[in-house]
Amino acid sequence: MNKQLVEEAIAYISDLFKDNSDGHDLDHSLRVYRNAMKIAEKENGDLEIITMAALLHDADDHKLFNTTDNENARKFLISHGINEEKIAKICEVINAISFSKNRGKRPETIEGQIVQDADRLDALGAIGIARTFAYGGTHHRSLSSSVEHFHEKLLLLKDEMNTAEGKRIAEERHRFMEEFLKRYREETQ
Ligand code: NI
Repeated sequence: MNKQLVEEAIAYISDLFKDNSDGHDLDHSLRVYRNAMKIAEKENGDLEIITMAALLHDADDHKLFNTTDNENARKFLISHGINEEKIAKICEVINAISFSKNRGKRPETIEGQIVQDADRLDALGAIGIARTFAYGGTHHRSLSSSVEHFHEKLLLLKDEMNTAEGKRIAEERHRFMEEFLKRYREETQ
């Protein structure tokens, strides 16, 4: 995997998110990238597709950008000489992993499965808890309504993982969240 390409992709999304969000999208994308690399060690996927899809997966997030057809992702990939066929595969992965658009659907390619798992892992464990309350705060939600979100969505994720390594890490993080919820109940009842 070309190290310079990775660094340039990170610089590209740093810039992209700097003007459009408070920076949590950059940190999220970097964590998804690291999760994806960890899972990819145990799977046989195309590392360039996995890396680029993980780093660019929110580059055209409709909540932040008014782009169509993965315009921001494509712009980076085209300007870095990635061929059309590969760009199509990378965009296919990005489009397959969106949680809201693909509820219950499993990405067809191993690259898509890996990046989807990597993205879901960032909603679990200590980071998942931190993100849930941060999001709740931004949207003026009470603590108990954020806790509801664990039950409605986050605690279901471990059974929706695609890869063995993704599932293993998800189960670990899931246990931590259950422990947190148990303590939370004890302390708030
Ligand atoms: Ni994401």
